Amino acid sequence: MIIAISGTPGTGKTTLARALRDKLGYSLLQVKSLITKEKLYDSYDKENRCYTVDTKKLNSQIMKRIKEKKMQKKDLIVDSHLSHYLPASAVDMCIITKCELKELSNRLKKRRYNKNKIRENLDAEIFDVCHTEAQEQGHRILVIDITKGINTKTLSRIKREINGAQSTS
Ligand SMILES: Nc1ncnc2c1ncn2[C@@H]1O[C@H](COP(=O)(O)OP(=O)(O)OP(=O)(O)O)[C@@H](O)[C@H]1O
Ligand SMILES: [Mg+2]
Repeated sequence: MIIAISGTPGTGKTTLARALRDKLGYSLLQVKSLITKEKLYDSYDKENRCYTVDTKKLNSQIMKRIKEKKMQKKDLIVDSHLSHYLPASAVDMCIITKCELKELSNRLKKRRYNKNKIRENLDAEIFDVCHTEAQEQGHRILVIDITKGINTKTLSRIKREINGAQSTS
């Protein structure tokens, strides 16, 4: 089982990815660490305090790790707001994390993002950008709102969806 977790920055991808790793025993690929470790960026964007990622290089690095896991018949969670760009054929399901706007705004302010970056991210959440792009990519999608945390109901929903994806793959 290969799961991509995507969603607007700050909506809880890493929180969910870690919970799933712990509950399901899947391996976890933290794409942020991969980007810095493998130097998969072109430059550092000072204004937005983030790296400008070379998405081609990034995708091939992620694909390499997905293929390794598939060969070993092992499971992997890919944690990244870019993970929904992976081909649908490489991923069994794509989880999109959602968060209530007020809470998301507070989280982004806490990170001291500048006003433009906060606006951009809130707009992305309002317009459901990751979800729409994941649909365009043809993924099997599960949308999860974990504004208030991950409860047993949420975990059951995910497990059911995993079973469904396994039976159709
Ligand atoms: N249910 C929750 N209640 C309170 N705070 C939460 C909750 N879920 C996540 N957070 C906090 O919100 C912040 C963002 O969560 P997280 O890092 O999981 O998001 P992310 O989608 O991985 O962000 P990024 O795209 O930047 O990696 C973290 O500081 C986390 O501790
Ligand atoms: Mg994260």
